[in-house]
Amino acid sequence: MYTVRKVTDDLYYVGGDDRRLALFENIFPIPEGVSYNSYLLMDEKTVLIDAVDWAITREYMVNVARVLNGRDLDYLIVHHMEPDHCSSIELMLQRYPNLKIISSEKGIMFMRQFGYHVDDRYIEVKEGDTVSFGKHEFTFVEAPMVHWPEVLMSYDSYDKVLFSADAFGSFIANNGRLFADEVNWDRDYLDEGRRYYTNIVGKYGTFVQKALAKAGGLDLKYICPLHGLVWRDNFGYIIDKYVHWATYEPEEEGVLIVYASMYGNTEFAAQALASKLCEKGMTNISLRDVSSTHVSTLIAESFKYSNIVLASVTYNLGIYPVMLNYLEDMKALNLQNRAISIIGNGTWAPQAAEKMEKFIDEEMRLMDVLPEGLDMVSSLKKAKEPDMDAMVDGILESMKKRREEKEKTASQNKGKK
Ligand code: FEO
Repeated sequence: MYTVRKVTDDLYYVGGDDRRLALFENIFPIPEGVSYNSYLLMDEKTVLIDAVDWAITREYMVNVARVLNGRDLDYLIVHHMEPDHCSSIELMLQRYPNLKIISSEKGIMFMRQFGYHVDDRYIEVKEGDTVSFGKHEFTFVEAPMVHWPEVLMSYDSYDKVLFSADAFGSFIANNGRLFADEVNWDRDYLDEGRRYYTNIVGKYGTFVQKALAKAGGLDLKYICPLHGLVWRDNFGYIIDKYVHWATYEPEEEGVLIVYASMYGNTEFAAQALASKLCEKGMTNISLRDVSSTHVSTLIAESFKYSNIVLASVTYNLGIYPVMLNYLEDMKALNLQNRAISIIGNGTWAPQAAEKMEKFIDEEMRLMDVLPEGLDMVSSLKKAKEPDMDAMVDGILESMKKRREEKEKTASQNKGKK
C-alpha cells in the first residue's frame, strides 16, 4: 500500500505521519503526532522535494517508487537540512544512482557534517537562481533562519506553488488529509500551528518578516510546507497569523495568567485575579499552572495574548525554578511587546516579585511591567483586595491604551494611502 495524494496534476504528496514520536526535537510533546512532508514532481525530469525522518522512511520509499512507476529519480531538492527532513538522503542516493541533490551551499555543507556521501552529486543554488525541470521552472529564495541558516524556499511558476520549508507548518499528523481546507484549521489546528511556530521559529521573527515580504510578491495557488497541511486558499488568514507572530504583535486582547504555587496559596491569588477580571468583563483568560503545563504551551499562549500575569512563590530565595525556566524560554524566543503584571509570594523572605521584575526589565526587550503589582506573605488576605482591584484596573487600562495606539496607527496608515 502507499499513502500518496495528488497536489496538482504533476505534483504528488509522498510524505507521511509520525504518531509514535513522543517529543519533537526531543523537547516538544506531540500527542497528536506530526507529518514529514515530501513532494514528488513528475515532469520531463523527476524531482523529489525534500526528504523525511527515519521514522517513516520505509513507507516514504514505497510512496516514491509508486509515483515514479519505473522512472528514474533525477533530482532531490533539499530546502532544509534538519534531520527530520533529511535522514533518508543517503538511502535515496544509494537507491537512485543518477540522483543529484539541489540545495544551498550551507545545505551541502551540513549534509557533509551529518556524514552523507554527496561527493559531486549536487547542484548549489542561491537567491534568485532558477532551474527548469521541463514545463516547471523553480526559482529559489533564500530564507535564512526560518528555521536554520541554510534554509531555501522555492517557487514553481507553472503551478504557482511555494515550497515554504518549515514556514506555514504545524504539529498534528495529517491522518490522510492533505489540504488545510479539508479540516477546520482555525478550530482544530491553530493552537498546534501556533505552538509549532512560536517554539521552533519564534526567535527569528525578523527573518520570518523578510521571508514573508519576499513571498508577498508571489502569485500563489499553493503553499506546501514541510509539516502539516497544504494551503490552497485562505492565504490571507495564515499569513495574517504569521505576521502577528513574526512581529510579536498579540493576536488577541486577553490575559494569560501563569502561576507557580507549592501549596495552593499563589494559585488562589491567580484564581481570585481571574474572577475579578471576569467580573469586569475581561473573560478572554487562560489560567495555567506552570508546573503542570508544558512550557511550549505557555510560550504559544504568551504569543497569543496581549497581557501576561506572572504569579510566583519564592523558592531558594529566588524565582520558582519552573517559572524561571518559562521566563528564560520567553527570553530565548525573543517574545516582546507584552504588558506584564506580577504577583509575588513568600513566607519568610519573599523575593519572587522583585526578581521577576528585574529579569523582565534587564533580560527581555520591549516589555511593559505594569506598576500595579501584588505582594503576598504566605496567603492572600482581605487587606490585599485594593491591590488586586488596582491590578485589574491596570490590566484593563493597558489594553485600552494598546487599542487606542493601534487605532491611531491604523488611521495614520490610512491617511498615507
Ligand atoms: Fe522540520 Fe526545522 O525542521
